[in-house]
Amino acid sequence: MKRWILKSGGYDADALIIEDAQKPEPGPGQVRVRIEAAALNYRDYLVMTNSLWRTDLDLIPVADGAGVIDAVGAGVTEWKTGDAVITVYMRDFPTWPPHPDVGMGLGSANEHGVLAEYVVLSASRLVRKPASLTSIEAATLPCAAHTAWTALQKLSPARPSDKVLILGTGGVSLFALSICRHLGIEAIVTTGSEQKRERLLELGASEVVNYRIDPDWGNTVYQLSGGVNKVINSAGVGALNQSMAALKHGGNVVTIGMISQGEGEPVNEYALLGKGLTIHGMPVGGRDGLVELVAFVDAVGLKPVVHQTFSFNDAKLAYEEQRSSDLFGKVIISID
Ligand SMILES: NC(=O)c1ccc[n+]([C@@H]2O[C@H](COP(=O)([O-])OP(=O)(O)OC[C@H]3O[C@@H](n4cnc5c(N)ncnc54)[C@H](OP(=O)(O)O)[C@@H]3O)[C@@H](O)[C@H]2O)c1
Repeated sequence: MKRWILKSGGYDADALIIEDAQKPEPGPGQVRVRIEAAALNYRDYLVMTNSLWRTDLDLIPVADGAGVIDAVGAGVTEWKTGDAVITVYMRDFPTWPPHPDVGMGLGSANEHGVLAEYVVLSASRLVRKPASLTSIEAATLPCAAHTAWTALQKLSPARPSDKVLILGTGGVSLFALSICRHLGIEAIVTTGSEQKRERLLELGASEVVNYRIDPDWGNTVYQLSGGVNKVINSAGVGALNQSMAALKHGGNVVTIGMISQGEGEPVNEYALLGKGLTIHGMPVGGRDGLVELVAFVDAVGLKPVVHQTFSFNDAKLAYEEQRSSDLFGKVIISID
């Protein structure tokens, strides 16, 4: 079989190589999955370029995959060959809250990922694929969609009467927008690209604010909305003050992203205290949340926004495209 490897000690695209390997055999409690599709996230670029996400292991990268079980190890009762599945991002994380052993996700540190024709995973590292999605579509759920679900439904759940501000148009953000639309929650979205404005409105955003043109975007959102109940902050700590400016009293900002790390002013304590705000940090979510999300996707017919699908051999081009400023939706690698 073929697999991609991120070579230990390499921190750019040259470290990504394709190689032949033996098909792995599942041990007790494990299954083997024939991977049909893998999806990229911003974090896959971090794993490639940042030593904090790596060990001295030659690593099969990428966390998010969909495929079909083709061999079952001893003691596995939950799965059988032929079952269609998607991966669970974090280790030993059945339910919220997280704990010190959840790791950094498949395809990072000392955990091999899914950018291979066959992978062996613990039986608990999978949930069933939504019946309403193809494997290409379903591969997008484990990190980006699951993160959006946790942010909207597990931490201070948003209600239909709420207003939510979503920062940027990455994978997490577009899933947050889709989930809001299906739940009847008003969503305002920021973007740094005027070209993305129309598409965001078509996807259901009530307002679009350009954070590059308008550096005081938080106050602008407050004026437009009368204050939002929740901010899905895929940008990072550098966007906290503007996020808090957009919130109404008692509101909540869920800080997910690491794009704006190190940017921005110290946190505005007057806004934080005076408005009685809460700031939640969060890692993706527990397996229970992904199971809920799969049921939701099938129930409402949610479809991911797909930016582009690449062939297995073109994985390096997929990595490049994930960093494109034109990115709008998920970058997927098809493995047939
Ligand atoms: N904590 C967790 O569990 C968790 C889970 C998933 C992802 N993340 C993190 O969340 C972030 C987004 O991940 P992703 O995979 O959704 O990203 P992505 O698909 O690669 O998209 C990145 C998007 O970020 C937007 N952006 C860039 N600079 C920005 C800024 N200064 N303010 C607001 N938006 C900005 C851009 O949107 P525009 O072009 O519209 O400006 C861009 O399309 C990353 O930092 C990732 O590591 C964390």
